[in-house]
Amino acid sequence: MIQQILVSISNRILHIQINRPEKKNALTQAMYSAMSDAIAQAEGDVAVRVIVISGHEGAFTAGNDIADFVQSPPAGEDSPVFRFLRTISTAKKPIVAAVNGVAVGIGTTMLLHCDLVYAGHGARFQLPFVNLGLVPEAGSSLILPQMIGHRRAAELLLLGDPFTAETAHELGIINSVVADGDVLATALHAATQLAAKPPHALRLSKQLLKQHSGAAVQAAMTEEGAHFANLLTSPEAAEALQAFLEKRKPDFSRFE
Ligand code: COA
Repeated sequence: MIQQILVSISNRILHIQINRPEKKNALTQAMYSAMSDAIAQAEGDVAVRVIVISGHEGAFTAGNDIADFVQSPPAGEDSPVFRFLRTISTAKKPIVAAVNGVAVGIGTTMLLHCDLVYAGHGARFQLPFVNLGLVPEAGSSLILPQMIGHRRAAELLLLGDPFTAETAHELGIINSVVADGDVLATALHAATQLAAKPPHALRLSKQLLKQHSGAAVQAAMTEEGAHFANLLTSPEAAEALQAFLEKRKPDFSRFE
């Protein structure tokens, strides 16, 4: 079987590459577990100072695998997706993301937990939770309004339309927009710079940057997660997810 999460270590950088291009890098439970394990490995390895996450030229990730959602909806905080979110949001070492192509759902929300994010001009972001009969996750219902204000967060989270890398940059969701072919090199360059810094000062500085929001983000994640798990088995989500699998438009007209 082709490895869907590739992990390599070089020059004190642990690189996680999402590698399921035929499904736009949609994430299954096994893939979340592999990414959590890789981040945990980086955290425990003194030879690693920085983590880089990337996808492919066509997709960072199209979010949670929708067939997986239907077949085995994540239940509770022990689920692989929840473990991944806890791991990435509490990581002590800096995380740099390289985004090409689609970054949908958790493909966008995981970026809120990365420290530096670079995207290509062709990157497309989207937070389609409401469209799927779901609610925001990964602490995004707290982090986004704090970051960009209620109105702009509502636009992204309630309308749920795709937005460009330029918009993501204007909003401060990503650090910069570069040529599509330069994204990974830009991220690795930044990671190399970070890896050369005094490691204790670097980790402590990241901790200071996050310490005032950390507990609130974890609490938001727990609350969102409870709603998310309930809604996944709701008739609205069933219609939305089934519509995606059947490649048709969902019809929410019968719901109150
Ligand atoms: N889960 C499962 N399969 C997915 C997927 C997902 N999240 N996203 C894409 N795929 C699959 C498609 O079903 C398709 O599979 P097929 O070739 O067997 O039919 C393949 O990946 C390619 O996707 P396609 O939709 O043809 O590519 P596109 O470039 O036209 O559109 C997206 C890309 C990401 C805009 C579109 O696939 C999409 O909206 N995906 C769902 C995103 C989503 O809602 N994620 C969940 C967020 S919680």
